[in-house]
Amino acid sequence: MAGRIPRDFIDDLLVRVDIVDLIDSHVPLKKTGSNYAARCPFHNEKSPSFSVNRKKQFFYCFGCGAGGNAITFLMDYSHLEFVEAIEDLATFVGVDVPREESTYNTPAKPDNLKDLYSTLEAVAKFYAQQLKSNPEGQQAIAYLKKRGLSGIIARDFMLGYAPDAWDELGKRFNKKLLLDAGLLINKENGGSYDRFRGRLMFPIRDKRGRILGFGARVLDDSLPKYLNSPETSVFSKGNEVYGLCELLQKNSKPERVLIVEGYMDVIALAQFGLHYAVATLGTATSRTHLDILFRFASELVLCFDGDNAGRKAAWRAVETAMPTLRDGRQIKIMLLPQNEDPDSLIRQEGLEIFSKRIISTQTLSDYFFEHVTRSLDLTSPEGCSQLAAIAEPHLNQIPEGFFKKIMLSKLQDLSKLSEQQLSSSLENSKKLATLKSNALNPRKKRGTKLSTARFTIALLLQNPELAELIIREIPNWKGLDFPSLEVLGNILQTISNNKPANMGALVECYRNTDKEKMINTLAAYELELDNTPKEIIGKMFTDSVNNLIKQAKDELLTNLLLKESNQSLNSEEKQLLIKMLK
Ligand code: UTP
Ligand code: MN
Repeated sequence: MAGRIPRDFIDDLLVRVDIVDLIDSHVPLKKTGSNYAARCPFHNEKSPSFSVNRKKQFFYCFGCGAGGNAITFLMDYSHLEFVEAIEDLATFVGVDVPREESTYNTPAKPDNLKDLYSTLEAVAKFYAQQLKSNPEGQQAIAYLKKRGLSGIIARDFMLGYAPDAWDELGKRFNKKLLLDAGLLINKENGGSYDRFRGRLMFPIRDKRGRILGFGARVLDDSLPKYLNSPETSVFSKGNEVYGLCELLQKNSKPERVLIVEGYMDVIALAQFGLHYAVATLGTATSRTHLDILFRFASELVLCFDGDNAGRKAAWRAVETAMPTLRDGRQIKIMLLPQNEDPDSLIRQEGLEIFSKRIISTQTLSDYFFEHVTRSLDLTSPEGCSQLAAIAEPHLNQIPEGFFKKIMLSKLQDLSKLSEQQLSSSLENSKKLATLKSNALNPRKKRGTKLSTARFTIALLLQNPELAELIIREIPNWKGLDFPSLEVLGNILQTISNNKPANMGALVECYRNTDKEKMINTLAAYELELDNTPKEIIGKMFTDSVNNLIKQAKDELLTNLLLKESNQSLNSEEKQLLIKMLK
């Protein structure tokens, strides 16, 4: 079951599915000329800039730059992994997903994955039932009541109770599966025992509701307060957050997500009617956590204790967050009063005041500048230069865009350094990198003629049938060593190997490759040739390819002549030069 999905099947799916039907079933589309349009589902907008093209089998938003084929749409829209998107697409088309025998170079998941999930599910149900019916469970219920939690919340979060005994699971379920699921612990002298005993159980679910593991709390003050499932083949703490499944059940498109520290915080907030909180699993907020949550909401509020440890954690999170801050995404930092956590606070002040606290909390940018200027004297030149030195590396991590520009101009204001002074130091590292790569690869310096090259590539991507016109030409440009011809040759080869039925299928061949980004950008580029006859497009294409070949030859010739004037041609190059001059 766990084998790879055959490439052919994916190609076939992208031929069978019509991206217009697919997207229309999620976001109603209106026909506009040769495209279909809607308000973009990936960002907030008043007038439609999201367009879907049937011929290309591609969608693109001029507002936020989201774009891709049917698989990409499902991954982004329904927050799915690649394989999940293929499964959904197959269901949409009405076919089954075939699997290849797993090979040694794919990290094969254990073939009992399905059994593992169903064991975890069964165990969670067992714990939930123990909470209700086991006399010991009454203590757990009393504990929940003492903390103000209702039966409804216990049900929503599937809370349970693990009896205080050594072999409750072992005698009921398959031991091998329990071990793989992290629910049993092996004894040194053989045999095994239940990992969780006499504890309140918090099932940790993924976004699709599958149980991955558990958190387990004692009912008194003994230590350790919580035990957690170990990492297993289905559970990895850095990649999961607690409460996401429950959150999505209430609202699949929340305005914001609040990230807190504890299981109990998530649950208490839900009890008080705040259903958009999740918790990390006893680890620091990771880049993966932020990336996952940004798929569901454009605003994340990170909540920390007001003590020293909380402040440290907040700054670490800010550092982690910088590379995730594309335009349209926002992070806020919320520091709580000393000795309070979200659980205690919402109890004291209620939902309304607590919600206001969230809405009016500090933006990451304010927090950032407050933090980096805290101990500096900005009336002195020393203080200003220190500020620039501290802030610069962090701001450099922000993806290019308006947010980065705004942060940099704020740094200018505060440091009283001009844009040039700042950017000369900011650009230094970049320049150095460019110089280095140019030294290693001198051809990279070109760029003036890039537009012809990019146009030609875009034309081919958007009209894969053009490949026929020039596929036989490839041998003619062998040895020219011209980057855009290399890319063009690569795409021609891909088309001839895979025979993609449309651009969507062609683009798919480049998923997770080093060319993916460039290919996607050029695929989305509006060439405005919808009303241009086929023959003309063909002529444009062959002309521009010939242009590129000519450019490449000119460049080669110039280089050879230059070398000749330095008298540093080897015999092979001499012959080439003679041949070219003929
Ligand atoms: P807290 O101590 O703040 O727990 O730890 P809490 O969720 O607020 O629980 P209550 O209110 O004391 O009942 C925050 C998180 O750190 C992890 C858990 O994920 C917990 O929810 N943690 C804490 C552990 O994994 N082990 C521990 O022993 C303590
Ligand atoms: Mn707490």
